[in-house]
Amino acid sequence: MTVWRQDRYGTAATVTSRAVPTPAPGPGEVLVRTEAVSINSGDIHLMQGSPRMVRLFFGIRRPRVRGRGMDLAGVVVAVGTGVDALAVGDRVVGAGTETLAEHVVVAASALTVLPDGVDPADAACLPVAGNTAVVALAGRDLAGSRVLVVGAGGGVGTLTVQLAAARGAEVWATCGARAEATLAGLGAAHTVDYRTVPVSDLPRDHFDLVVDIAGLTPLPMLRERLRAGGVVALVGGEGGAILGPIPRLVRSVFARRRGRRFRPVTATTKSAVTAELVDLLDRGILTPVIQRRVPLTDAAAALAHVEEGHTVGKVVVVA
Ligand SMILES: NC(=O)c1ccc[n+]([C@@H]2O[C@H](COP(=O)([O-])OP(=O)(O)OC[C@H]3O[C@@H](n4cnc5c(N)ncnc54)[C@H](OP(=O)(O)O)[C@@H]3O)[C@@H](O)[C@H]2O)c1
Repeated sequence: MTVWRQDRYGTAATVTSRAVPTPAPGPGEVLVRTEAVSINSGDIHLMQGSPRMVRLFFGIRRPRVRGRGMDLAGVVVAVGTGVDALAVGDRVVGAGTETLAEHVVVAASALTVLPDGVDPADAACLPVAGNTAVVALAGRDLAGSRVLVVGAGGGVGTLTVQLAAARGAEVWATCGARAEATLAGLGAAHTVDYRTVPVSDLPRDHFDLVVDIAGLTPLPMLRERLRAGGVVALVGGEGGAILGPIPRLVRSVFARRRGRRFRPVTATTKSAVTAELVDLLDRGILTPVIQRRVPLTDAAAALAHVEEGHTVGKVVVVA
């Protein structure tokens, strides 16, 4: 089978296709024939080994796991011992490792069965980005609230806007001009082109929740957008070359003022949450935005596109 791997950290050009034996599932695992894989900015961080701190956990000199790809949707083609919940032929979605491959071995517990009629490319947009959006919005009753999503045009942002709007929030979204119409169509009541309107021009003392996905706005400027009792959920941002967003997250602990505080978002992908997102997709409440579908034979081009940082919605690799 074909798998896309890299032997050293670097740009998308370091990720090339290899022919390897098709793996067999172990106990508790299944083998999935891949139909769709969405690319996440996390794939880019692992690919580049950036920020440098990433290398402490994922391999100092070269990536310990050489294949890229986290999300996947596909069909179960073999089942390991001890797996009762899945059978050969089931259509599934979930998160794994080295998913940019024709076949992937995944823990059965990491997968969710797809209802008939759900496009695997749509489903593959949900695990990592959707779980992140859910955690960013967690802990609040959003009905009648005002939510500002800073950096709403990408994979996490387009899902965050839809989930917040579906839960009854009035959503404001900052994004590139190209994404404004899309986000309005997804339920944003107000869209703001970040290149012409800085966050400091948005209303003060106005929002119950600010979801900061772009991670470039100074913390006090985000805090000033909140009403008393409001929270800034810190989701993204590249930060410095060595420690990435860590220094900003540390500063946020000391940046609370007058009942306005910050909450770092660290999302892990849970199949129960993915199942809820799939249900919303099936009911037409959630519509993933797919800017580009790229064949698996050209997976490095998909990584290169997301590496540029200007994706509207998602880039999905399809078999
Ligand atoms: N905390 C967690 O657990 C967690 C989990 C997943 C992701 N993340 C982080 O979340 C961030 C977003 O991830 P993603 O996969 O959604 O990225 P993405 O899809 O690559 O997002 C790209 C989008 O961001 C927009 N953008 C860039 N700078 C902006 C700014 N200053 N203001 C408004 N929009 C801006 C771009 O618009 P233009 O093209 O117009 O520039 C583009 O539409 C990343 O930093 C990622 O590391 C965190």
